[in-house]
Amino acid sequence: MRAGNGLDRPLEGRHIMVTAGPTYEDLDPVRFLGNRSSGRMGFAVAAAAAEAGGRVTLVAGPVGLATPAGIERIDVRSAGQMMETVMARVDDCDVFIGVAAVADYRPAEPRGEKIKKTAETLELKLIRNPDILATVAGREQRPFVVGFAAETSDLESYARGKLEKKNLDLIAANLVGQGRCFDASDNALEVFSRDGHWSFPSQDKRSLARELIELIAERIELSET
Ligand code: PMT
Repeated sequence: MRAGNGLDRPLEGRHIMVTAGPTYEDLDPVRFLGNRSSGRMGFAVAAAAAEAGGRVTLVAGPVGLATPAGIERIDVRSAGQMMETVMARVDDCDVFIGVAAVADYRPAEPRGEKIKKTAETLELKLIRNPDILATVAGREQRPFVVGFAAETSDLESYARGKLEKKNLDLIAANLVGQGRCFDASDNALEVFSRDGHWSFPSQDKRSLARELIELIAERIELSET
């Protein structure tokens, strides 16, 4: 790895928190709202951060993946649980990387009993989940914050919008849908800061994650000089 600070382990001494996978929002005891995230990208980022010498906390939604070596993993189910877990550990965090596909909405009134099939149509009322990434980035004592953006079109404009709105240091944007990215072994990323743009062409998520971590280490070093 080409290290930002000339070292082999450029994240040595840093605490990196990574979120990964989907969140599930329960409708009743047998049904939930979820999404297609497999967790592969987030787990690859966590593994690359550990390889770069970081102490890594991985907050994972419901996925069927093995934990990368040397990483503390905390499993959660819903966006609410992910938020609670992140906020309980963010104080000593130097870098926060939000790779999880967090549900934007959850059922307003999850039922305690299985919803019965009675009417021809069923309306669901959803309410907004809090934004974990924006909450972390809005803290007074904030870590270096990296977001991801999953888009089906207009990658750059949506990603730059999220970079500004959520007050991020970097955003890594990927196209999804039509077999791209979700649960695939390969991915491509366009990474944006306020003053920079880096393109990482399609490759295995593990090597892509190493390139992203290398860039993050370089940007942190730059922000500290
Ligand atoms: O898991 P894989 O199958 O490997 O797929 C990888 C991926 C597509 C899930 C990943 O590369 C990716 O793009 N993750 C972000 C997906 C997403 O939810 O993007 P978004 O544009 O909706 O959210 C923007 C950012 O805000 C993300 O960093 C997200 O973690 C964060 N967010 C969103 C909503 C919310 N309530 N809280 C958040 O923290």
